[in-house]
Amino acid sequence: MEYKGLKFGTLVSILVIVLAIYYRKSENTLQKRLIAVLEGLERVETKHEGLPRPKVAIGYGICTDVYIDAKYLLKYSNDIRIPEHFDEITTEKELLKSFAYYFRHGAAAERFMSNSSLFEKLVSHARSFPSSYSTIGGNAPVMALRFVKEGCDVLLAAKMTKALQQMIPSNIRVVGGDVNRDDVHLVLEYKRGESWGPYTSSRANRYIVHNDINNPTISSLEEFDKLLPEFAPDLFVVSGLQMMDNYPFPEGVRLSRLLKVKQQMIAQPKSTKIHFEMASFTEESLLLELTELVIPFADSLGMNEQEVTNLHNLMLYGNISLVADSNPRVATVLDQMRTLFKLVRRNEKSFMNARQLTRIHVHTLAYQAILNVKNSRWKNTMAAAAKASLTANRHVCGSNNVDVQKAMLIMDDSFSTSTEAGKRIPLDIEKPVSCWDEVLKIENDQISVQVCVAPVLVCTQASQTAGGGDNISSAGLVPQIS
Ligand SMILES: *[C@@H]1O[C@H](CO)[C@@H](O)[C@H](O)[C@H]1NC(C)=O
Ligand SMILES: *[C@@H]1O[C@H](CO)[C@@H](O)[C@H](O)[C@H]1NC(C)=O
Ligand SMILES: *[C@@H]1O[C@H](CO)[C@@H](O)[C@H](O)[C@H]1NC(C)=O
Repeated sequence: MEYKGLKFGTLVSILVIVLAIYYRKSENTLQKRLIAVLEGLERVETKHEGLPRPKVAIGYGICTDVYIDAKYLLKYSNDIRIPEHFDEITTEKELLKSFAYYFRHGAAAERFMSNSSLFEKLVSHARSFPSSYSTIGGNAPVMALRFVKEGCDVLLAAKMTKALQQMIPSNIRVVGGDVNRDDVHLVLEYKRGESWGPYTSSRANRYIVHNDINNPTISSLEEFDKLLPEFAPDLFVVSGLQMMDNYPFPEGVRLSRLLKVKQQMIAQPKSTKIHFEMASFTEESLLLELTELVIPFADSLGMNEQEVTNLHNLMLYGNISLVADSNPRVATVLDQMRTLFKLVRRNEKSFMNARQLTRIHVHTLAYQAILNVKNSRWKNTMAAAAKASLTANRHVCGSNNVDVQKAMLIMDDSFSTSTEAGKRIPLDIEKPVSCWDEVLKIENDQISVQVCVAPVLVCTQASQTAGGGDNISSAGLVPQIS
């Protein structure tokens, strides 16, 4: 028995050692692989020459994001009974019903609260918790901060209080004027598996309420207009329009504001490139208006995997998808980008003063995909894809140095360029950014494009996720302006 026991024990020890060696070895191979990818990305990231200090003008809006753990602020009560969706929230009971509606699916939501006294009450209650904190929010300011970090001169269109202006770095020029009260977004966060009354959340997410008055009406637009000719930007970025989504505008106001945005885009000289940063739109009629009043007048579009599906479906089928695959295959996204490119190009023909779309950037958790028309004004596509990819990790991990111990690759070892008769491209860890040329046929035109796909070293220890897309899109634009 003893002999047998000993032998068994030895066997176990040997097995443990063998496993440890094997594990360390595969761990080593994995690390080496990640290091190779990182070095490959860093090599191309800087391999470009652009303008010394590109000038970037960004509209519209700003807000203060106030973060609070949802369960501190909202107490479940039996009065809620049936969870319910409301386009806008007027009472506490509606808030609870609406929160329950989204929380039980772990779905993100952003709702307008028309009752400002209730909203103020909630915000001050949230702020009374030591664990609550606030940051500068809104797409335009987040993009502005990134552009400044990347060495651009930045003009930001946003109305804000003097107090909030103090938080904006002095090297960002702000236009729009003062307000008495900043737009505040109350971000109610919850973790995966948390329970609230009878409900349990299936994933971490947040429910946002706001009572914006400046952002939905893009109130900084007129002041911005006065400064744009003098600033003469190399790049003009239109963002923040999703604040109009589901906002209770008086009849005709939304349309008239969008027409002003269109006018502002058209007024830019041809030497200024125009980028439109998409966002999550749930109101079909608003997205439809964007395809007529904004998208035809942009040279470039930036979006994530949800937004590309949404816009693609709207333009192709006339319907929108509120939720899409959060980790789509490369082939699927590339097909959507091609179709979207063709649809937008065709659509542009029916508008006076339209520009020609020459760039689409789609950012996903696992990879970055950029499509550029060859010989257009967008340069350094490969460097842009690498930079976007590295920014994704740096932003989410909260550090400028990518640590491979805190990173992993989600993208497969190879990908197909299309779901229909695509070419298989292996992921070359020494040269991780894959670029190739294609010809896209639109009626009688043949348009040569370059497509680049870069894998993302996904940060496994997220320190921040909000504003990721804005940071990534801006980073990807910088090497391309030249
Ligand atoms: C707004 O909220 C307050 C509670 O803070 C409530 O007393 C009031 O009735 C609400 N107003 C409306 C129009 O529902
Ligand atoms: C949109 O329409 C297409 C084509 O008719 C259909 O396949 C798709 O399921 C629809 N999507 C939604 C979200 O309704
Ligand atoms: C974007 O990146 C910057 C710099 O890396 C970071 O400080 C910031 O928190 C990020 N996100 C936002 C929302 O600005």
